Amino acid sequence: MEEISIRELFFILRKWMGMIMALLIVSVGASGAVSYYILNPEYQTFTTLMVGKPKDYQSDNSIEYNDIILNQKLVSTYGELVKSRAVTDNVIENLNLNLSYNTFRNKVNVNLVKDTEIIKLVVTDESPSLAVEIANETAIVFMEKVKEFLRVENIQVIDEAQLPERPIKPRPLLNMAIAGVLGVMVGVFISFFMEFLDNTIKTPDDIERHINLPILGAIPLADKKRSGLITMEDPKSPISESFRTLRTNIQFSSIDREVKVITVTSSGPSEGKSTVSANFAISLAQNGKKVLLMECDLRKPMVHKLFDISNSRGLTNILMGERDISALAHKCEGIDNLNIIFSGPLPPNPAELLGSNGMKKLVENLKEEYDMIILDSPPVGLVTDSAILSTITDGTLLVAAVGETDTNAMKGAKELLEKVQANLMGVILNKIPINNRSYYAYGYYQYYSYYGQD
Ligand SMILES: Nc1ncnc2c1ncn2[C@@H]1O[C@H](COP(=O)(O)OP(=O)(O)OP(=O)(O)O)[C@@H](O)[C@H]1O
Ligand SMILES: [Mg+2]
Repeated sequence: MEEISIRELFFILRKWMGMIMALLIVSVGASGAVSYYILNPEYQTFTTLMVGKPKDYQSDNSIEYNDIILNQKLVSTYGELVKSRAVTDNVIENLNLNLSYNTFRNKVNVNLVKDTEIIKLVVTDESPSLAVEIANETAIVFMEKVKEFLRVENIQVIDEAQLPERPIKPRPLLNMAIAGVLGVMVGVFISFFMEFLDNTIKTPDDIERHINLPILGAIPLADKKRSGLITMEDPKSPISESFRTLRTNIQFSSIDREVKVITVTSSGPSEGKSTVSANFAISLAQNGKKVLLMECDLRKPMVHKLFDISNSRGLTNILMGERDISALAHKCEGIDNLNIIFSGPLPPNPAELLGSNGMKKLVENLKEEYDMIILDSPPVGLVTDSAILSTITDGTLLVAAVGETDTNAMKGAKELLEKVQANLMGVILNKIPINNRSYYAYGYYQYYSYYGQD
């Protein structure tokens, strides 16, 4: 069983707060509507009677006749008598009610006041006046029957039934409060259950716990309105800062081994490989390095769209024999040291092309010319292209998107890359939500990305 910290519990609740509040409102609203508009109000009234002991018992002076035992017996007897057919049928007849014996019985309750000779006849009905009539009539019939059967003379009504002013049921406020508490409980249960079912990477701890690779970059979730090339357009933004941190971390992790060519991949689609590759390349170029960004996703190329440049010619042309590489290495306006080679026309056999000797030689040659080469690639979990690329590059970075990347898929991707002996440098955690509702609003993100900010 995995441990969950109090902080994670707190953020799970915040994340699902909308759903919990919706359930609260719906349950309170529904119970209010049922209580006010659907359930019929019920009124309650009562009569109290004082009942003496039967004559027989009074004349018996035996010491075994303990008064307490006698009282207990009597109250049970009276209780049964009130609900007997002898009494109820009579009341139904006297009041001319169209009620069955069982329905009537349910309306009348006998409460025997403990250690006294007082009996309380409680009547509940949807009509307050009928409740009063039944209570009074039952008292009268009951007194007759007690006199008749038990030969008790001293029985009398203490209190006649009063017309109740307010219904005792339903109690809308109580119902709404109970429904509200239940709604919140169900909401909390559903949130935890959904989190339990959700096997995606959510926090850096998940990477540490399950993937066991260092986190080299933590890229926040960008506003949808912002361009994909945020490092170029807004170099002062926290996202650009997070790419600078990634850049520094890569430099640190390549101290022992020269890392010039890096494959960027991820376990599944749309986790941000192309966006991260492009911004990482820009960030490296902004630092004065001569950088080449290569679109090696020959299935679903995206980089040319980010730079808004035509993809008519590129890598595949080079691999098919085009010699003038420099003509295909686009310059990037505003970023002097960055060149980009787009994918070119899409081939039917991408894995074969990427695994060809030509590709290997191309990368070797380009290494002479550039300080860093970043290869954007397809998902490692879906096709072999990235695993093949990893074998001809110095290092591989795995992108994981918060709330999207499946933990098991990422484990699988890591294993695949390890099998081909890729130099797995670490993970870039992408699309980190930093709004104040998320886990990351609390410290972590500041630690990774905000230092160095104004
Ligand atoms: N940090 C981010 N913040 C917000 N949106 C992002 C971020 N990174 C990527 N995206 C968005 O996610 C989507 C997928 O991004 P991208 O194309 O870079 O992923 P990919 O892993 O290369 O996808 P594919 O598997 O198709 O190659 C795009 O709409 C992109 O704008
Ligand atoms: Mg892509």
